Amino acid sequence: MNDQAIFQRLLALVEQYHARRKEGKFLEYLEPQALAETLDLERQAAGDWQQLFRWMEQYLDHSVKTGHPGFVNRMWSGANLPSIMGEIITAVTNTSACTYEAAPVSTLMEHYMLNSMLELVGFEEGEGQMTTGSSNGNMIAMLAARNRAGEDIKERGLGDNPQLVAFVSADAHYSLDKAANILGLGTNNLIKVSVDQRGRMRTDHLEQLLKEQLLLGKRPFFVCATLGTTVRGAYDPLPPLITLRDQYGFWLHGDGAWGGAALLDDGLRRHYLPGVEQLDSFTWDFHKMPGSNLMCNLLLFNHHKGTLRCACSAGEHSYLFREEHEDAELDTGTASLQCGRRVDSLKWFLDWKYYGREGLGARVRHYLELCEYAESRITTLPRLEMTAPRESFNVCFRFVPPQGVDSNDFNLRLRHRLFEEGVSLVGVAFIGDTLTLRLLITHPEFTRADVDQFLQSVIDMGAKLLDE
Ligand SMILES: Cc1ncc(COP(=O)(O)O)c(C=O)c1O
Repeated sequence: MNDQAIFQRLLALVEQYHARRKEGKFLEYLEPQALAETLDLERQAAGDWQQLFRWMEQYLDHSVKTGHPGFVNRMWSGANLPSIMGEIITAVTNTSACTYEAAPVSTLMEHYMLNSMLELVGFEEGEGQMTTGSSNGNMIAMLAARNRAGEDIKERGLGDNPQLVAFVSADAHYSLDKAANILGLGTNNLIKVSVDQRGRMRTDHLEQLLKEQLLLGKRPFFVCATLGTTVRGAYDPLPPLITLRDQYGFWLHGDGAWGGAALLDDGLRRHYLPGVEQLDSFTWDFHKMPGSNLMCNLLLFNHHKGTLRCACSAGEHSYLFREEHEDAELDTGTASLQCGRRVDSLKWFLDWKYYGREGLGARVRHYLELCEYAESRITTLPRLEMTAPRESFNVCFRFVPPQGVDSNDFNLRLRHRLFEEGVSLVGVAFIGDTLTLRLLITHPEFTRADVDQFLQSVIDMGAKLLDE
């Protein structure tokens, strides 16, 4: 096959998959052993395009159709078409977004997008970078705060400084624990602040913990506000956190990986993110509600120009970064923890230009309306109940089995059957001791009828399980 024929066949395959992504089951499930046999991974294929295409077709046939309405498990689904086009161009050009020299268009697009986001959030004299995801964004924010917290920490390590302590809510994402590990704080020095009944950080408890730690001679240096928690979708209250930050001098970071999308609409921003422009740093995934292809993350710093570069750079790198160049200032790699950087800017730029803030804002409002609808249905449908009142974009509920049947065990089995039978893949998590199903809606074309169908499928599967 020549290159032209290969491209034509590939594009036809991709187009067909995309056109049919909502049809049939969301997954043709095979057990790992059966799938391995189907794939015949050991098979030789030197120079054999027919075999490569067979694997590509099998990949598509046995992939989870994340653009299918049954896929309500993760914080993303499918991807925007402009973004998919951007990914194809990114693959075919295959460069590293670390220098202007190697990635001129990507560099300018990344700066353009980051500046647009700094303006959107309202950070002045700020800077930013695209990272590999919010886990990384949270860690880099903690890294910058750590380096600011003690003298020469970057050069001399943590050694002779007072013990640094950081704080997050008990419902924060586990990436913060990882960051405490990686950055040498120790996971015990990431202190968990209790949450109120709605899942929001209790700032009275935070203040009490700050005082206790100071009395112990420790140095509170970083607080992460979760802006849309992973399970319940709760937003930690920013105004009292900002007051505490001003009083105690810690770095206040916002983890908006999921809930940062509220920025896309003025009303939602006022409601969920009051004071966001006063944070020290903020991270947000565009691959979640806004729908860009994975991964598409931004990390923004407020009033700390130069801090990112200072926090992330180390070592002799003149073989790559040529500081005498006029355009060296544009190089994104010097402010990054990576050496090679995947181009994530093109897809992001294309999505932003195509949908605009208006279009994406309308999408996020639509998601919220569907969540309100889902909650109203769950509270009226027999056998279903909310496991926590809805805070924002997360609908936490369960199937209520008859007395004597263990609810956690039953809901776990129910969820697994929905998956195995290719009906849906719904999230699962604990709220306290209660196992809960977590419905997340991130399909732009999802409708009330899809909500009804999904809830009915849970009820039907529950009834079927009870009959067995
Ligand atoms: C609140 C929160 N923070 C951080 C993350 C991590 O994001 P990423 O997968 O981009 O690393 C998630 C992911 O679900 C999240 O829900």
